[in-house]
Amino acid sequence: MSVTINIEHARKVYDKDNVVIPDLSAQIQPGEFFTLLGPSGCGKTTLLRMIAGFNTIEGGEIKFGDKVINNLPPYKRNIGMVFQNYAVFPHMTTRENVAFGLKEHKVREPELSKRVDDMLKMVQIEELADRIPSNMSGGQQQRIALARAIVINPDVLLMDEPLSNLDAKLRVEMRSVIRHIQQQAGITTVYVTHDQEEALAISDRIAVMNKGVIQQLDTPVNIYRHPSNLFVATFMGLTNVVDVDLNDKVATLTGSDYSVRFDKIKDECANGKAKLCVRPNDFRFEDSGLKGEVIERVFFGTIMDYTVKTDAGEMRVTGSVNDKLHNVGDTVYLRIESDVVNLFSNDEDGTSLMQE
Ligand SMILES: Nc1ncnc2c1ncn2[C@@H]1O[C@H](COP(=O)(O)OP(=O)(O)OP(=O)(O)O)[C@@H](O)[C@H]1O
Ligand SMILES: [Mg+2]
Repeated sequence: MSVTINIEHARKVYDKDNVVIPDLSAQIQPGEFFTLLGPSGCGKTTLLRMIAGFNTIEGGEIKFGDKVINNLPPYKRNIGMVFQNYAVFPHMTTRENVAFGLKEHKVREPELSKRVDDMLKMVQIEELADRIPSNMSGGQQQRIALARAIVINPDVLLMDEPLSNLDAKLRVEMRSVIRHIQQQAGITTVYVTHDQEEALAISDRIAVMNKGVIQQLDTPVNIYRHPSNLFVATFMGLTNVVDVDLNDKVATLTGSDYSVRFDKIKDECANGKAKLCVRPNDFRFEDSGLKGEVIERVFFGTIMDYTVKTDAGEMRVTGSVNDKLHNVGDTVYLRIESDVVNLFSNDEDGTSLMQE
């Protein structure tokens, strides 16, 4: 069974006056893969531990379904947890590790063995059933941790950076494993990461957090394509931030004579100063446009990463290696795909000026 998690005006204060989460609300749907994403120290683990019951709550409510769980101890919340450090019992075999929680729940044979076997099959570690974890790889140990968390049929699965100790290739492989298993089991899942790409790849929805505040709660595609403020836009991957002067929805890049028309700006924001966010692959090399000089290029195999010095500042620009290559010192002209870039207000909030 999976549940809705309702977080209503949750507040976390450490040591009497250190307000880490001032007032946070979110509703997580049954069976949803929900990710908390944000920079180090923004409060992801703090919030996850509040949901788990390892942290007290200083205000507001957390509900599983209609039931307020603020004061329910962790072992009564029916949650499964997976952490960054594998936290498997080193002296027990894989099978014993996975069976452990079931025994605690008084599940007896033959059901016990059947559920353990099914779970080992699901996470594809049947062949390791009788080995002990100390001589297994990180990925294998994390599969045991995952199996152990899910075998008890939890209402909620909580994961805190479960892949961050694994090497890059294994991380990519394991995130598919986690996603696949979560979908098969249909468990409401809250996943913590500070890795943008991982969050985009794995989630149904993402809450991007900064300083204990949700900046945007949306699908991966919307977060990437329509960031609601400058923080989200710059946090979700490399982007060029350029000052512009807006005049009736035409943005002129400050310092240059290059301008782009943005039909999708909100009418009331059509004039004044603004910030333009252009990702490196939102530029195209053309015969005319924003004039610049290539001052650096780095070859990445599938792409060429150029740094181009223009009157509006230095721009990072992605080129295809299948196109004409530019050399350091070449004069180039850049054009911006106005349909895919975003403008933000020129103040501290940096809110999106684009139509919904
Ligand atoms: N037990 C604690 N007592 C006091 N302050 C704490 C405690 N745990 C965390 N904090 C503080 O709360 C803030 C949020 O910490 P938290 O661990 O939730 O961040 P995080 O987003 O998980 O970061 P990371 O990506 O580095 O894991 C930090 O400023 C941290 O120092
Ligand atoms: Mg953390």
